[in-house]
Amino acid sequence: MRIDIVTLFPEMFAGALDASIIGRARTSGALTIALHNPRDYTRDRHRVVDDYPFGGGPGMVMKPEPIFECVDAVRAMAEPAGRVVLLTPQGRTLDHGVVAELADAERLIIICGHYEGVDERVREHLADDEISIGDYVLSGGEPAAIVVVDAVARHQPGVLGSQESLAEESHAAGLLEYPQYTRPAAYRGMAVPEPLLSGHHARIARWRRRQSIERTARRRPDMIARASLTAAEQRLAAAAAPGAPPDDRAHLARVALPVHDIDAATVYYAALLGDAGERVAPGEHAFRCGGATLACVATDGDARRPAEVCFAVPDLRAAHERAKAAGSAWVEGRPRRRANGERAFGLRDPSGNRLCFIDEATLAP
Ligand SMILES: C[S@@+](CC[C@H](N)C(=O)[O-])C[C@H]1O[C@@H](n2cnc3c(N)ncnc32)[C@H](O)[C@@H]1O
Repeated sequence: MRIDIVTLFPEMFAGALDASIIGRARTSGALTIALHNPRDYTRDRHRVVDDYPFGGGPGMVMKPEPIFECVDAVRAMAEPAGRVVLLTPQGRTLDHGVVAELADAERLIIICGHYEGVDERVREHLADDEISIGDYVLSGGEPAAIVVVDAVARHQPGVLGSQESLAEESHAAGLLEYPQYTRPAAYRGMAVPEPLLSGHHARIARWRRRQSIERTARRRPDMIARASLTAAEQRLAAAAAPGAPPDDRAHLARVALPVHDIDAATVYYAALLGDAGERVAPGEHAFRCGGATLACVATDGDARRPAEVCFAVPDLRAAHERAKAAGSAWVEGRPRRRANGERAFGLRDPSGNRLCFIDEATLAP
């Protein structure tokens, strides 16, 4: 990708375009950046680039001729002609979607305004796009251009160490990113959350997804409203939203049905429910039914294996106390980590039905 920057102050870019990601992108050839000064395209002795506004008022306005002539010359320097982006606090606000769109272009020509801005004819007849980096006013477009170039450079293939980091970052999937930690695991009494140290990939992914949802719900309710969430995730977001009453109720999470032949059961329930479901483990096929899951579980020859109704709860210890006090026929001594990473305990109701309670933070997807 090639980016041409039209600026009266090329010296403001010194350093910013040479280091870190932008520097790496330039060195690797993924990004070419060239700076052009409209002052070099003036024709008068004093190389004047600004003038008083017609109609009066404070400040100076950037004259149209040096900008038009500069952009004409810059366009002719390379192919394709490029998309002309005017930086202005009046433009559409830069966000993840706009960055991705700009990053798709083969070439951008970015115009930095200064003083009171540029002559309106530049906006009307030269610019293809107008971008603002936020609802505040800078003295010039140069810092905004650096912001745009940095954000766009990250999207160029091979610039980031891993394309995954782009996909997982805040805003990429419509959610803020989960909290990140590095060594040491404990510092001044502040411990890294246990799931991250577990080495269990599915558990880590679940913990991160939950953190992303809760953090977005707390900080950016506007984003949560547009995010694509399952019914269970929507409940999680609602519970984390500012001012939400604490929700310590149990939610029906899963009904596990023992089946003699997992393939035959998959065909049967897929036809019955009108949904192909998902093979989540060699002996388990899951069908999403609203916020809960119907799981067909192979008996592996154990004819006595009972069906199990599973509830997700935010406070497993409190659920354990309630299960003992409610007069259950049997309650497992204490919650355990199951093979699928869930923390849970089993019990039987007075009729002998098998139930289980799962810590909702560890609930398998
Ligand atoms: C002082 S500003 C001019 C503001 C203009 N008088 C107005 O009220 O819309 C000078 C230049 O800084 C740049 N600029 C200022 N704020 C910006 C923002 N939020 N996003 C992008 N560029 C900005 C633009 O290029 C603008 O022409």
